[in-house]
Amino acid sequence: MPIRYLITSALPYINGVKHLGNLIGSILPADVYARFLRQSGKEVLYICGTDEHGTPAEIAAETAGIPIEVYCRQMYEIQKEIYEQFNIEFDFFGRTSSKSNHIFTTEIFKKLYENGYIQEQYIDQYYSFDDKRFLPDRYVEGTCPHCGYTRARGDQCEGCGVLLNPEELVDPHSAISKSKNIVLQKTKHFFLDMPKLESKVAAWVEKKTNWSDTVKGIARKWIKEGLRPRCITRDLKWGINVPLAWINRQKKSIEENNSKEEISQESKVFYVWFDAPNGYISITKDWAENINDPDIWEKWWLPENEDDVFYAEFMAKDNVPFHSVFWPAMILGTGEKFKKVNDIKGFHWLTYEHGKFSTSQQRGVFTDVALNLYPADYWRYYLLANCPETSDSDFSFASFAAVVNKNLADTLGNFLTRTVALHKKYFDLKINIELSNKNIDFNLEKKVKDFIEKINQSLLERKFRVTMAELRALWVLGNEYITQNAPWNSAKTNIEQCQITLIHCIHLLRVFAIVSFPFIPKTSEKIFAVLDDEIENLRTTKITDCVNFRYFEKGHKIGEPIQLFHKIDEETVKELTARFAGKD
Ligand code: 2FM
Ligand code: ZN
Repeated sequence: MPIRYLITSALPYINGVKHLGNLIGSILPADVYARFLRQSGKEVLYICGTDEHGTPAEIAAETAGIPIEVYCRQMYEIQKEIYEQFNIEFDFFGRTSSKSNHIFTTEIFKKLYENGYIQEQYIDQYYSFDDKRFLPDRYVEGTCPHCGYTRARGDQCEGCGVLLNPEELVDPHSAISKSKNIVLQKTKHFFLDMPKLESKVAAWVEKKTNWSDTVKGIARKWIKEGLRPRCITRDLKWGINVPLAWINRQKKSIEENNSKEEISQESKVFYVWFDAPNGYISITKDWAENINDPDIWEKWWLPENEDDVFYAEFMAKDNVPFHSVFWPAMILGTGEKFKKVNDIKGFHWLTYEHGKFSTSQQRGVFTDVALNLYPADYWRYYLLANCPETSDSDFSFASFAAVVNKNLADTLGNFLTRTVALHKKYFDLKINIELSNKNIDFNLEKKVKDFIEKINQSLLERKFRVTMAELRALWVLGNEYITQNAPWNSAKTNIEQCQITLIHCIHLLRVFAIVSFPFIPKTSEKIFAVLDDEIENLRTTKITDCVNFRYFEKGHKIGEPIQLFHKIDEETVKELTARFAGKD
């Protein structure tokens, strides 16, 4: 049995605010899992942060006309703030551009180099005379040889989606200056020797019997296609510098005749995917510094016994190859005992009205805008209930409204209103009796416990769709209970029975708040405020221990009824659908 749970969600790229698909594709389910485990009394560390290197960040800063460091600092604050507003409870939200990631990534590289897993190769890359620099990947633009789209990038054509190499572009030019004064030149780069690491990685992947078919399939496919050496450096300024002087010293010391040639000290940095995953570890180091316990990161990443820590990663499926093969290969190549992932949760895509979310076309809902429209819990609930877990799922305002209206407003919200309003009407919000074994509804108790057991189990297995269905069924049970027991009838004939029913309902509300806390935390807090219970109890009560129909004692008074959710009408759906449809 693990004694600690380490959770990471894919580090969002720094350039631009993320859309709802990004949120449900990694961070939100990881937050639910972390909250649930914390509630269960487990020791949890949930780490995330911004992925700040790479050409998209450089280009975004250039477009914004500000220095890249300033751009990243600003965007980091913006993203951090948005996640706070979604009530994502990271233990630490760090940055891959931190000093600790520079140091750590350099150490990883040096170990790989010393262990013989780094090769040097020359590759052809465009050099721009006007920009006085090499133009990696997206810095070259031109016409797509396949579809004729004139703004295809060096790595991919946005017109037809095909992956490209820069030299395939027709009429290539610099994306920065638009200059055509560019030539292909040889430049030396470093490659991770994946073929040499292949047997180690393949053996490690095969041991992962708990991985989902999708994740394992992706990893196996990569390995089966044969791992090729992977270029891990780029000719860019922004990033983590390749330790060229150190490499030159290494070469001198081994005096290999054929590689005595020195590498020039031009700006060469690591490829973003080489430094980003190391960020999980270096951000943990930053967390440790931040809590004044600098060595504590080792408890998570270098545990004495590997099984003491259960490590779960959350990400969209395009990230799976990097987490299931590439990063593990790096770690294995270092020969260090860093904790490797136990389970990879890879999500499919959330589409927007059956198409793609698109930043450039302003199509779809982005996280900052979403929060201006509706409170975080509306989004959290909808996205989790509609999570692209085993296949793609689609966002539309019509389905968003249907789910919010039916599940949140009509089911959970309505149960609170009915219970509290009736309790006010008949008992002035005060609990006047104590339930005893004679009048506790053990049948109800059993049904509730069964639902909770299922929710507990599916959350332990990180299965979100079934969890959400069971959660909803639990709320429905509350409404059925109140309808069947009709306290408005017993109020006329047997006032004690009326109160017994309502006390059960009040306790059901408490159960609903605790069980729902990982998903819709602010709503749970509102319910607890109405019940006049300590908010802190939400964080520390195990869902499997929360059913107790005698929790509130005689004399306890609850608060006034409140409306938890507001319904979304058809007019609004139409208006929002039109507003976010994007431009062609
Ligand atoms: O796809 C992405 O959004 C990447 N920024 C994820 C990086 S995950 C990790 F390895 F850093
Ligand atoms: Zn094309």
